Amino acid sequence: MMRLLYLVLLMSILPNFGFAAVDNPWSLMPMPKEIQAKEGKFRILRSFTVNLKGPEERLNPQATRFLRRLDDRTGLFFEQHFLRTDSQVSEASLQVEVQKAGVLKLGVDESYRLSVAPEGIRLTAPTDIGALRGMETLLQLVQVDENGYYFPAVEINDAPRFPWRGLMMDPSRHFMPVDVLKRNLNAMASAKLNVLHLHLSDNQGFRIESKVLPALHEKGSDGEYYTQQQIREVIAYAGELGIRVMPEFDVPGHATAILMAYPEIGSAPAGYEYKMEVNAGVFDPTLDPTNEKTYELLEKLFAEMASLFPDEYFHIGGDENKGLHWKENPRIQQFMKKNKLKDNHELQLYFSTRISKMVKRLGKHMVGWDEIYTPELPKETLVHGWRNWQGMDMYQAAKKGYKMIVSSGYYIDLMKRAESHYLNDPLGDKPLKPSAEANIMGGEATMWSELVTARTVDSRIWPRTAAIAERFWSPKHIRDVDDMYRRMDLFSMALEIDGILHIHSKEAIMRKLCR
Ligand code: ACM
Repeated sequence: MMRLLYLVLLMSILPNFGFAAVDNPWSLMPMPKEIQAKEGKFRILRSFTVNLKGPEERLNPQATRFLRRLDDRTGLFFEQHFLRTDSQVSEASLQVEVQKAGVLKLGVDESYRLSVAPEGIRLTAPTDIGALRGMETLLQLVQVDENGYYFPAVEINDAPRFPWRGLMMDPSRHFMPVDVLKRNLNAMASAKLNVLHLHLSDNQGFRIESKVLPALHEKGSDGEYYTQQQIREVIAYAGELGIRVMPEFDVPGHATAILMAYPEIGSAPAGYEYKMEVNAGVFDPTLDPTNEKTYELLEKLFAEMASLFPDEYFHIGGDENKGLHWKENPRIQQFMKKNKLKDNHELQLYFSTRISKMVKRLGKHMVGWDEIYTPELPKETLVHGWRNWQGMDMYQAAKKGYKMIVSSGYYIDLMKRAESHYLNDPLGDKPLKPSAEANIMGGEATMWSELVTARTVDSRIWPRTAAIAERFWSPKHIRDVDDMYRRMDLFSMALEIDGILHIHSKEAIMRKLCR
């Protein structure tokens, strides 16, 4: 009876068992660019070994991690313990060959080729990052039959459709400790996502230690923030997985936490008392774009953070500024008149243009939500599209030659079904000219966390973000919703094996509610 139960259980969690016939025989997510089934199976035995040829730094620990994860899935207790590129296991089951270490920046080559034959497996890639993507694919290929575990014979040639495939996390609204980031980075790597965007400041918290302006984290948070050492650790951890980490400091709106520390650079009329927000909403506290001190302070902060975060891209927010305090402040109104700035929009563009020069001086590309867009911005600016309602043309920047990433349609905080995100293409539903299309670098799922805590965040992100990850990685024509759900369920269970708590936490929360 137990044996039967075990088999039924196995068949329900392992690929290609217990499902109605579908056209797609594979359980991969995201689906690769090209895949061709071959005859036969490669049996996974205790003697399974991996051999590496190529740069060691990322490859050795990650191939060892692959071996441990495969071991964990099969329970075989492999004889090979850990890997070194110089250990040269001749006749290894899996031969990994990499030409060079990938430099972690936008557009790095993430392609790979994977060939599984009954005699052995070969994974080749121009960069170690491509090899990591291939190892994730190989892990998803594990299957079981009456004789045990195996990889089906297959030829895969894979590369991403878009180079920017991100997840934004929002530790400002509810703090997300380092272990939450790390386990989500693992899950991102499984889904072949390659950018973690951290929304580090907002009305509800400034969440990173500033050594130059310590009042920011001291007065702008409840004591929960990342130390610089922790952030270095997160960046290094992400880097091993081939994932970039981009910080965001949201200005000039969404700025209460900054103004708790430096009210003198705020726009509110005299006597206004800034108060930290705890709930969701769009609030009025806004930096004063007419005050030179604002730029001096931001330059100090951005210089510190630009050297802490090695990524070439630096997000300055720029969204949802209603400018109410600008309207109420006679000094700001006078400045606008003097400088012929006819409305708040023009004042915000004045601010974005100055900030963009500052970010450029720091050697970074500025990124901002699409409100920052003006055709006067330096061409290296990246516009982050999120508004496409009320006739808004989110793609206007791409049409004018600016690079863009897209989050419209990928707001996972809205609790929509995975298919609504899945069927939403980053290129939109109206044809763009090829020159504008080429400016769309990809997109990001956004996990706004006003209503999400460290305990619930995994279940908001996963497994739906796997559907978005497939949209960013796989060819455009892969869009069968039933098949996506079939594969997403399997992906969801694999996430749990790797430590994501989306299923587990639900039980704990239910128990808490029923106490
Ligand atoms: C945003 O959702 N305010 C970018």
